Amino acid sequence: MKKSGKPAKREAVLMLAYMLCLGIFCGSSLYKQYQNIEQTETELYLEDVNEAAAYVSASVEEESPKIALTFDDGPSGSWTPVLLDGLKERGVKGTFFLIGQNVEKYPEVVKRLHEEGHLIGNHTYHHVEITKISEEEAAKEILDTNEVIRAITGEDVEFMRPPFGAWQRELELKMPVLPVMWTIDPLDWTTENTDEVVNKVVTEAEENDIILLHDCYKSSVEAALRIIDILQKEGFEFVTVDELMVN
Ligand code: NI
Repeated sequence: MKKSGKPAKREAVLMLAYMLCLGIFCGSSLYKQYQNIEQTETELYLEDVNEAAAYVSASVEEESPKIALTFDDGPSGSWTPVLLDGLKERGVKGTFFLIGQNVEKYPEVVKRLHEEGHLIGNHTYHHVEITKISEEEAAKEILDTNEVIRAITGEDVEFMRPPFGAWQRELELKMPVLPVMWTIDPLDWTTENTDEVVNKVVTEAEENDIILLHDCYKSSVEAALRIIDILQKEGFEFVTVDELMVN
C-alpha cells in the first residue's frame, strides 16, 4: 500500500500541477481575448464619437443664424455711398427699398447698389400710405417705381416695403411685387443717438429677423455698420430678404 501510495500521490501532484498550468494558460488567453474585444469596442466607440463630433461641427457651420438688414427711403446722395463702402468692407449684402423720386435723383447710387449685389425693392414713388389712396393711384405708385428702377438695373423688382407698413391685400394679387415687413424697428429716424439704435437692435436680434433702418441719416448708417460688427462676432450671417423667405 505504501509503495503504491507514493506514485499515486506523485500522479495527483502532477495532475494538480498540470491543471494549474492549464488553468493559468486558459485564463490568460481568455483574458487576452477579452482585452482584445474591449480594445476593439473602445476603438469603435471612439470612432463613433469622432464621427458624431465632426457631424455636429459641420452642421453648426452650415446653420449659422441668418439675419437681414433693410434700408428704407433711399437712395441718399450723401449717406448711401458711405453705407455701401462699409458693407463692401464687411462683405455684407443688404436690401434697399427705394423711393421712385430718389431713384431719379441719384441714378448712379442705384447703379452701384445693383452692381455690388444688394437687393433692390420698391418703396412707392412719393412715399405714400397706400391704404389712404385709391387702388389705381396705389398701382401707379408701385408700377412707376418698378419702372424707374428697371430702367437703371435692367431687372424686374420683386419686393416692396409699403410705407408705414400699410398694405392693401387686394393689391397683392394684382401687383408684381411681394410686400416685405420687418421684425425689429429701432425707430432710427427719431434719434441721432447711434448707441441707442445699436443697443436696441443687438439686444433683440434673433435668427431670421428683418431689421428696419434708413440709409438717409448719418447716425443710421453708422449704427448699421456697428450692428454688423457686433452680430457678425456673435456668428450671424447677413443676407438679403429673399434668402430668408426661401427658408
Ligand atoms: Ni419709408
